[in-house]
Amino acid sequence: MAEENVSGVSEAEIAVHWQEEDYIYPPASFIRQANLTDEGIFERFSLDNFPECFKEYAELLDWDKYWETTLDTSNPPFWKWFVGGRLNACYNCLDRHLAADKNKSAIHFVPEPEDESTTHVTYQELFVRVNEFAALLRDFAGLKRGDRVTLHMPMVAELPITMLACARLGVIHSQVFSGFSGKSVADRVVDSESRVLITTDAYYRTGKLIDHKEKADIAVDEAAELGQTIDKVLVWQRYPGRHSSPTPMVEGRDFSVNELLPDYRGARVAPVSLPAEDPLFLMYTSGTTGKPKGCQHSIGGYLSYVAGTTRYIQDLHPEDVYWCMADIGWITGHSYIVYGPLVLGASSVVYEGLPTWPDAGRPWRIAEELDVNIFHTSPTAIRALRRSGPEEPLQYNHDFKHMTTVGEPIEPEVWRWYHRVVGKGKAVIVDTWWQTETGGFLCSTVPALGAMKPGSAGPALPGIHPVIYDEEANEIPAGSGRAGNICIRNPWPGAFQTIWRDPDRFVANYYARYCKDEKSTDWRDWPYMAGDGALQAEDGYYRILGRIDDVINVAGHRLGTKEIESAALTVGEIAEAAVVPVSDEVKGKVPDLYVSLQPGFEASDALQKTVSSAVVSEIGPIARPRKVLIVPDMPKTRSGKIMRRVLAALSNNEDVGDITTLANPEVVEAIRQME
Ligand code: WT7
Repeated sequence: MAEENVSGVSEAEIAVHWQEEDYIYPPASFIRQANLTDEGIFERFSLDNFPECFKEYAELLDWDKYWETTLDTSNPPFWKWFVGGRLNACYNCLDRHLAADKNKSAIHFVPEPEDESTTHVTYQELFVRVNEFAALLRDFAGLKRGDRVTLHMPMVAELPITMLACARLGVIHSQVFSGFSGKSVADRVVDSESRVLITTDAYYRTGKLIDHKEKADIAVDEAAELGQTIDKVLVWQRYPGRHSSPTPMVEGRDFSVNELLPDYRGARVAPVSLPAEDPLFLMYTSGTTGKPKGCQHSIGGYLSYVAGTTRYIQDLHPEDVYWCMADIGWITGHSYIVYGPLVLGASSVVYEGLPTWPDAGRPWRIAEELDVNIFHTSPTAIRALRRSGPEEPLQYNHDFKHMTTVGEPIEPEVWRWYHRVVGKGKAVIVDTWWQTETGGFLCSTVPALGAMKPGSAGPALPGIHPVIYDEEANEIPAGSGRAGNICIRNPWPGAFQTIWRDPDRFVANYYARYCKDEKSTDWRDWPYMAGDGALQAEDGYYRILGRIDDVINVAGHRLGTKEIESAALTVGEIAEAAVVPVSDEVKGKVPDLYVSLQPGFEASDALQKTVSSAVVSEIGPIARPRKVLIVPDMPKTRSGKIMRRVLAALSNNEDVGDITTLANPEVVEAIRQME
């Protein structure tokens, strides 16, 4: 059974209603230099040529052993790609570039404080640092192929170093977004059974050096309570040579990486040759239930897919300077800050801080200084930059050939600002629709081939064949403009392999609903359900409407309504909690949190604050509700179900519709008076 949307209201229902916009064509200057200008790609990647077409992506990599079977479908829907092949992801991102490019910058690390200079890490230097750290992980931490290790690191060069060192050994990394709380880290440590936690003492955010180490202490304690022991915490120093956190190191448990590294100076670790289907990493994301799910990505399929999409959709050439302003703690950063750019041997920017710090000119100064020519960010960041400095980009001489937007639908108005002001009217834009689960892009224009259409994610990528179903599993006719649930008909190499330790949920969440025959080993019977509402316009372009499940996309990041509700329920006074998505000018959607109290308690500002803080400490500041509304009672059906649809209408200033069938219609007016 597919998990149902239990809340009764989805983002897709609070959908976007934009008109179809006119096309904007890529400039000749872009087309002249583009990696992909051959229309034939769509034919080469048609279903007739599936799955062998994806060899073209896999051949962008160096394999220790060529694969025997391109796609093995014998155990649906656990598809296996490039079976029999062996390779190492770290080798592909580093070693193979040394002969020609050892002196090129692999990473430009830009600290948030503007008076600290940028660090340029060459491929050779990255190779040395990754090898030394891999030796430490192996010999000091005792990590080996197949072990999981949790990372809770901010945006510093040491994060890709850590990921690549893991990849070199076949250790599965699970990086948790640095803004998440210690409690969130603990949940992921427990689920992945990590014995080692890798973190940083401190990092800069909005001008302050934040104590990050304190979260590791919470994570270790909470994980222990839940039955998982962390025996080593490896702490990178933000300033090598000194501990920059007020939280002390725990003797015998916490170890300073920078103090240990001299023991491994000059160490070289041979990249472990691994089966293509070995996991490369886990990335936890939110779903319908309270528990985040660990999306497991493979080495061979994932790396092939990010190599192909980075080359063709991001149009990355080895000489480009590429800046994806996402956080490596999300899938965007894994695929398009670390693995994609490095596997193709380009230079990738890692920026520590907030885009609008100290002012809205910061990104354009960075771009100018490093001569960035490909820029990648989210609608939320674009809206924030536009709001705080609408003319600011025009003051700078940055020169983008290509820009990406990802994570949420972008309003045509905001798109046009991005195009005209940030891209100075000459950069191409790709609006890329995809997910943590999909490893890489699913929909986008091919930048030199397709016209741009503001507000549309574009057609499907070569080799991706979507279908939109209605609730009764009928196919909605292609190009009809009618909304439904978007699915992908065919497997593709970037797709996650399973949910860590929860294969049943993998099948139930993504494949069960539209499966045509559970006994079939034919992939045609197993469409992948993305969990988004979407429509396809006549020209084949898709518009994504938002989540159909109990997930809210806040600033391009997924939060489960259930996670926020359970955080609220940790406050003793709270009897019931209901979270609904609200449209927000900058962040796309934000959560409103409705709570009712146990008998004998009174509503107060202090209690509202307590509830809000509980959400922040359980999950992180990103989940902070816009409003906490303490209501006299929840609007309910006669069978006692909370009518979230009514609450969502109230929060979004929309018509609540017919409420006469509620058990307590009077409460709706009472709540409206509070808004
Ligand atoms: C959800 C996935 C993909 C990396 C960042 C988010 C929404 C993503 C777009 C887009 C409209 C988009 C979808 C999707 N989404 N890209 N271009 N236009 N909506 O990854 O956290 O797994 O979230 O983000 O709702 O399901 P994620």
